[in-house]
Amino acid sequence: MGRKKYKKITEVRSFLNVFDYKNENAEAGIKNFFSNGKPITIELCCGQADYSIGLAEHYPERNFLGIDRKPNRLWNASKNANERNTKNVALLIAYIERLDETLKDIKAEEIWITFPDPYPFQSSIKKRLTHPRFLAIYKKILTENGKINLKTDDDTLYEYTLQMIDEMKLKTNFVHNDIYSLEQITFEYTIKTKYEKMHLEKGKKIKLVSFSFGHSESASGG
Ligand SMILES: C[S@@+](CC[C@H](N)C(=O)[O-])C[C@H]1O[C@@H](n2cnc3c(N)ncnc32)[C@H](O)[C@@H]1O
Repeated sequence: MGRKKYKKITEVRSFLNVFDYKNENAEAGIKNFFSNGKPITIELCCGQADYSIGLAEHYPERNFLGIDRKPNRLWNASKNANERNTKNVALLIAYIERLDETLKDIKAEEIWITFPDPYPFQSSIKKRLTHPRFLAIYKKILTENGKINLKTDDDTLYEYTLQMIDEMKLKTNFVHNDIYSLEQITFEYTIKTKYEKMHLEKGKKIKLVSFSFGHSESASGG
């Protein structure tokens, strides 16, 4: 491991806006950090938390929790949030597959899944973040009408997610396979993460699926 990465990994847990699933007081710490009862949005696999920070600047009346298993990435996220003076962003070192063991009380109104590893091969299907085993975890940490938003460049993950929505009879809020081709697009969909910028540079089309637990009424777009 390089010296820079080692420094980040050892330093990050001392930051006031960073919490660690290994600490049994992690959830209490997050609640105390927000301590205002404002609605919470969670970003899964947040990397340097571009989405959380972008949304947090636009919605100071909400709280944002970025989650990633890599502490060095959350070091960058914490630094970004501090440099931009974003007070309503907290970060949690955690594995998504065990998130409900840390977040027992906290309920999110919205979950963003931004450019997760797509796991295109059938052999890794259980690792896709919209596999039913992950959806069961999201159901536990969402409010009743909470939304899940997936942003991806990957066709396989996009199609697979639509298939899961159909099979599990979930409610679709928005679907499009090329959001930047639309004439009008809501602000929330326009924030660009580090990985999104890389995909756009390669000419990839960005897909978005927004869905909730509950019965499907309508779907829109591409
Ligand atoms: C492709 S990067 C995307 C980062 C960021 N969302 C972006 O768009 O720039 C995927 C991120 O997911 C994290 N990750 C992958 N699997 C995870 C898991 N099971 N639990 C938590 N984080 C995970 C990785 O550490 C990495 O930071």
